[in-house]
This record gives sequence, structure tokens and C-alpha cells, in this order.
Amino acid sequence: MKLSFTKSFGTLLLFIFLYSPSLYSGEGIWLPLFLKSLNEKEMKSMGMKIKAEDIYNINKGSLKDAIVQFGGGCTSEIISSQGLLLTNHHCGYGYIQSHSSVANNILRDGFWAANKGLELPCSGLTATMIVRMEDVSTEVLMNTNDDMKDSERRLIIDRNIVEVQKKIQKKNYEDVMIRSFYNGNQFFAFVTITYKDIRLVGAPPESIGKFGADTDNWVWPRHTGDFSIFRIYANSSNLPSEYSPDNIPFTPRHFLPISLDGVSKGDFTMVFGFPGRTNEYLTQEGVRQIVEEQNPVRIKIRDEALKILDKHMRADEKTKLQYSSKYAGIANAWKKWIGESQGVKQTKGLERKKTQDDEFQKRVNADPKFEKYRSIISELENSYKELQPLAIAKEYYSEGFQRNIDLYNCYARIKRLITTFEGKSEKAFDTERLKMRNDAVALFKDVNISIEKEVFKTLLEIVIKGVDPALRVPYIMDKMRLYNRNYAQYTEDLYSQSMFTNSDSLRKLSELTYNDWILKVKADPVWMFYEELNYFLTYGIQNRAGLLEDKIAGLRRTHMKALMEVFPEKRFYPDANSTLRVSYGQVDGFSPKDGMMYKTQTYLDGVMEKYIPGDYEFDVSDKLRKLYETKDYGVYAENGKMPLAFIASNHTTGGNSGSPAIDAHGNLIGLNFDRVWEGTMSDINYDKSICRNIMLDARFILFIIDKYAGAGYLIQEMKLVHPKGKRKKGKMQLGNF
Ligand code: ARG
Ligand code: GLU
Repeated sequence: MKLSFTKSFGTLLLFIFLYSPSLYSGEGIWLPLFLKSLNEKEMKSMGMKIKAEDIYNINKGSLKDAIVQFGGGCTSEIISSQGLLLTNHHCGYGYIQSHSSVANNILRDGFWAANKGLELPCSGLTATMIVRMEDVSTEVLMNTNDDMKDSERRLIIDRNIVEVQKKIQKKNYEDVMIRSFYNGNQFFAFVTITYKDIRLVGAPPESIGKFGADTDNWVWPRHTGDFSIFRIYANSSNLPSEYSPDNIPFTPRHFLPISLDGVSKGDFTMVFGFPGRTNEYLTQEGVRQIVEEQNPVRIKIRDEALKILDKHMRADEKTKLQYSSKYAGIANAWKKWIGESQGVKQTKGLERKKTQDDEFQKRVNADPKFEKYRSIISELENSYKELQPLAIAKEYYSEGFQRNIDLYNCYARIKRLITTFEGKSEKAFDTERLKMRNDAVALFKDVNISIEKEVFKTLLEIVIKGVDPALRVPYIMDKMRLYNRNYAQYTEDLYSQSMFTNSDSLRKLSELTYNDWILKVKADPVWMFYEELNYFLTYGIQNRAGLLEDKIAGLRRTHMKALMEVFPEKRFYPDANSTLRVSYGQVDGFSPKDGMMYKTQTYLDGVMEKYIPGDYEFDVSDKLRKLYETKDYGVYAENGKMPLAFIASNHTTGGNSGSPAIDAHGNLIGLNFDRVWEGTMSDINYDKSICRNIMLDARFILFIIDKYAGAGYLIQEMKLVHPKGKRKKGKMQLGNF
């Protein structure tokens, strides 16, 4: 092409440069309600073909009607007219596990209900949909002002919320919840509807659904087939009902068609779901404390706990079974924190935050109307610094003695019993006895006390050495003096003298009358240890920390408000708070470090590269190997290869697990399940250069259902589409197109 570079062409180029989609930072966890005013134009410029009102509309079916909060912590989406629900394997894990037994281990072997009658009820599982949301800030903030004390403000807000809740129009089967946004500057009401009869329809074996387990967790390139399938059941009026054999499959207002055409680099993508928690508007000191103070303490403690568990899990099969879920839980956050701290360092995130703080300060200083904000950053900084030693001590105690120690669960359980039965009759206690006995067994089912002791002893030493001497628990320090800091001996005695450390003695304890029981409990060394710890946490730490935390919360609210006033040209999205949000971006690789480039897509070939026969993380079943060898991929393949996962620049966080990845036309193209490790800092410092979310390719899900599980009848329920016109001639076993 011949170009004559004129001035106007230069302007045009500049225009294209400024507005070209690749310049979109990718950052943002947006409210569906405001897509039209804030995002639609940009989304269209990036390739979106539908309108904002196709995404969120309360008057007619829209994408939002297919997005479902799954059991509180995850997201899921409806993919058929009969209420078929897709989510991650790790989100359905507990329910799959609860239907597993030694004789019928569906966690290991997978499960596919051959017809609706064989779908498995999941007690306690709920599916929540958003009927509508509305801004109730004016009502909730009524009678508050900027000058009042935070405690006073909170009281008024709590009262107002009760009033607003009463006034919101809703049907008797709907619920209302009110949530704070922008650090307490705005409030939205959500009318929701929660279905309670949810049944397990299908799950691949763990060797697919959890392939790569903890080693590959948070890692790209990824090959985990992290999906499972459920179904929502409703009563004959299509409304929520507890489980009943008479319930029928739920008919949704909308369900997501599934694209068979895949994605390529640069394609528009959108993730729609319930992200849990982010803190994107912290000042430099706020971020610094997380990545340089808090994370290192947590990481140091979990490093040791994980090392001990890993050693024993590798040595013994039974231990591995007992501890694998616990290990995964401890390792998940541990690995995230490591990635988060490194990412901020690598991308100079603290400098970036400093520049933002400085720019804010400059504008505030230059304009008398912002006078009231002049000291906000320094006040925040001072409060953070004052809080820091207390916050760090809290981390030591909770990581060292609570989160990673099973004994704590036992103490907490007994504590709850005391709260319930103190002052009640012997008879009430009697009725609890059977439950206590069962709990005694359940609590220790997955505990190996000698491993537990090793962990306790090791963490005890780390906590005592790490915590600020002024913030050590006097009771524990007395013991340490008595034992001459022999951590092992103290641990040995603590465990052997306590009745809390095995199911037999706990059961014996439960035989006693309430009066004898409570005498024994209160004399127990483990009871005393945790009571003293709690006492110190409350009166030695939290009485001071709490005031500072409240002060910081108030300052952060003002800072957020100030940011929005001082930078009127910027768009601000509220931090994630487990409410319905949209993120959008593009399929895109990145360079994790010098000389390296990550591609956007993985294939089944990668599973075979990682395959380690017999390994608990990387084994591959005969059946999958056979499908690979014969390339029996049906219509789901792409150029002879089976696509597996892909990455894009959608801003996501925990809670987005199971969220649909949606294409430019509103079709499902993938299932979100993770982020890349290098970019886990996106919760506090999103940076498009390394932040990517990881999605399972929809075609891989269909391939597993159809070719691996032979459950093509499920695919017949779905709507498969070819938005890119890539219809192929191929053998589709039972599909409908
Ligand atoms: N990292 C993902 C998330 O934060 C997956 C966690 C489950 N998988 C695991 N191996 N622990 O939830
Ligand atoms: N696996 C995460 C979840 O359960 C999603 C990954 C993330 O934190 O982005 O929500």
C-alpha cells in the first residue's frame, strides 16, 4: 500500500492509536447496570457485536439470566433450556466427593447420569440468580454526613438498610441484599432468587478435572479439564423448592449457546460472574504492606507446613488421601501470595502506585476545593504504619496456630458447645451427645496426630521467633521459659496431656455430665492454650488494631470519594465484593520474563507431554490416551488438534471460578478457572503486561462429554453454534446440529 503521510492522516493515526482496542488496559470489574454508559463503546471497539442491553436487561431475557452464583463461592452458567449448569470441577468437588465411596469412587472414575432420574441430589447446594439491582445510595446514606464519626455513621447506615430492605419490591420467593460499593460511598440493592434442588449430572475423573493438581495450579501453560455439570430443579411453577422427586428441570429465561469455532489471538472476550474481593485503590503503603510484610509472613509459615505435609504424603498412601484436600487448600493461597509479591516487584508496582499517589496529591494541592483531601494520603500512611506491627502479629497467630493446625478446629467446636450449653439444662446437653460422639470421629478422620505435632512444633518456633516481643502471648511465653524453649517437648506434652487430640479421648469426654465435662474441658492444656491466645488477640491486639482498622476504613472511603472527584476524566469501577460483574478483554499471550513468550492456546498434546504414568498429579487414563492416539476428536478439533485451554486479558479474581467466557456474540467459548501465576497481583495492581485469566476451551468440555464419557445425550440439550462460520463435516455422535 502506498502511503502519503499528510497531517490529517497523522491525526487519524493518532486517533486510531489512542482508541485502538489494544490500548485498553484490560483492567476493570464492571457493574452490569452501567455497561451502557461506561463500557459499551469500548467493548464494541474491541469487537463486541451485541449491545449492553443484551448483557443486562431486567425487562427481557439477557445474558445475566444465565449467570448463576454456585453455592456461595463460585460462579456457574446455564447451558440448556432444561437448567443444565456448568461450573468448575474444583467448585463441584465437595459434592462429587460426598457421592463418592470406596466401592463407587466417582471422584476418581468420573460420573455421568445416564438419564435425569439418575442425577444426584446435592444437599446444601444452592444456585442464586440476580433478578435486578438498583442504586439505593441516597436512601442508605440518608442523614449521614462527612463530618460525623464513623461509628455514628455506621449506626445510621445499618438502620437505613433495614428500612430500605423493607421497601424494596419483591416477590415472596425472592430475597433482597444490600451491599456497599466504592469503599462505602455507594450502596446497591440486589433482588435475588435462590434455587435449592441442584443435582449432579456429570463430572470427569480427577485425572482430567484436576490434572496437574497443585503443581500446575495458577500456572500457564495449563491442561486441567476443570469442569463439572449440574442441573437446577424447580417446582411445577418453575420456582424454588427444597429437593423433591416431584421437582422438574428449571426453565431459564436465557441460556448460553456454545460456540464450536474457538478463539484466536485478539478476539474479544468477556467474563461474567461473581468475583469475590479486590483492593485496587490502595495507596503505595497499602500495597507495600501486603507484598512486603503480610505475604512474606504467611508464605514463610505455609512453606514449613506444606513441606511437612508433602514429605508424609509422598511416603504414605493413606496420608496422601487424608491430606490432599487440606494440602490443596493451604497451597492454593500460598502460591497466589508468592506470585502476587513477585508480580508487583517485577512490574514495579510500588513505583506505579507512588506515581498515582503523587499525581493525586499534586492535583489536590493545586485546587482549594480539594483542601479537605490534602492530608488523606499521609494520614492513611501513618495509620497503616501504626497498624503494621499489630497486623503482622495477627498474621503470625492466625497462620501459625489457627489456619494450619487441626487442633484449633477441635477447640473451636468445643467452644461453640460451651456457648450453646452454658446455663442450659443437663437434658439439652444430653441430646447433643450423639452428635458430639460423631464429631469426635469426623474431626480426626483426616488427621494424623504425629504429623500434626510436627507441624505445631515447627510453627510454634516460627511464631515465637517472628512475632514482635511486645506482642507475644504471656501464657505461651511462660510455658516457653518453663520448657527452656524446648519446642518439641512442649508440643509433646501439650498433645499427650490433652483430651482434644484424638477421637477416643474426645468420645470419652462426651460421656460426662455437663458439669464434669466443663470442668475437664477448662482444665485441658489445649483449651487453655487457645483461650489464652484468644484473650490476648482480643485484649492485647484487637482493642488497638480494631480502632486503627476502623480509622483506615473511614480514610479509604474518603480517599475513594476523593479519587473520583479529583480524576473526573477517569472511569472507576468498584472493587469486587461477590456481586455480579463483567470483565472484558482480548485473547492474548504475554512475556512472563525476558526471552520468554506465552502463547494463547494449549492442546491435548500438552497433556501427553506432561504425562507421568502412575503419578497422582500427572497420570492419564487409558481411554484419553487412546482418543489422543487415534485423534478421535469428532467436530471439536482444530486443524487436527484438540484445543484445551486459553488465556485472555480479562480482569478476574477468586469467585470467578466457573464463570463463562463469552464471545463477541454472547456465546460460551470457555470456562474461567484460574489466573496465571505471574499476574496474581491483579487483585491489588492490575497490569495488562502480565495479568491473564485462564479458561477451559468449550470444545474440550464437549469433547470430554461426547467422546470420553459417551454422554452425547447431554450435548443434544445444548445449542451449538458457529459464529465464525467454521461449520465442519465430521462425526458428531449424538449432537443436534
Ligand atoms: N487456583 C484456582 C483458584 O484459586 C484453583 C484452585 C483449586 N485447585 C487446586 N489445585 N487447589 O481457586
Ligand atoms: N480458582 C479461582 C476461584 O476459585 C479463580 C482464580 C482466580 O483467583 O482468579 O475462584
